[in-house]
Amino acid sequence: MLRRDFIVRSLLITGGLALGSRALGADADPAPVGAGNAITLPPLPYAEDALAPLISAETVRFHYGKHHQAYVDGVNRLRPGTAFAQASLTEIILKAEQGTLLDQAQQVWNHTFYWHSMRPAGGPAIPTALETQISKDFGSVDAMRKALHSAGMSVFGSGWVWLVYDQERLQIITTANADCPLRDGKAPILVCDVWEHAYYIDHRNKRATHLDAFLDQLVNWDFAAANLAAARPG
Ligand SMILES: [Fe+2]
Repeated sequence: MLRRDFIVRSLLITGGLALGSRALGADADPAPVGAGNAITLPPLPYAEDALAPLISAETVRFHYGKHHQAYVDGVNRLRPGTAFAQASLTEIILKAEQGTLLDQAQQVWNHTFYWHSMRPAGGPAIPTALETQISKDFGSVDAMRKALHSAGMSVFGSGWVWLVYDQERLQIITTANADCPLRDGKAPILVCDVWEHAYYIDHRNKRATHLDAFLDQLVNWDFAAANLAAARPG
């Protein structure tokens, strides 16, 4: 079975990226819908001001309420009349040709994954199984943190920095603009949005401060651990 097919199958089996009663899948990847049914903006997993002051309610109001909503609207506007008129987000991400529909679908998925990658008073406690895998693949949690921060800083322009599971190991990758690792058969574990719209209201041009806040005080390591458990073979 191709790695990408495995991920699709896993997503379908687990309902996405398993989180017990807070399964992301139902939000991030709505089941195939009938004609006339629209993909909807998934609910935030916390209140709009829950991440303040690190990420203000104003940032969330624009980032989630305007940007994320616009990507949802884009999918619903572009999908009718295409082969993906009744497809789920994941189907679009895996099968669509390069273009605006693919970009919009990836941005819906990426942003939902980003909101779930954080929680109020997140970090620094990491579940044991995840910490063990991090230490195996990076040497230490601190080494992983530095590598993720450095990778996030290296993104030129707009993009994302991800912790992914691929080839039976954790890896840090970056993607440009809307690109999503699912398309390359990599299992997302955690993501930080490094588009300027993610941090400009709160930190102006200081992306490093945004990454510091994310890594040290916002990461939802339980979410990351659940994603790792779902991605591991057997
Ligand atoms: Fe964003």
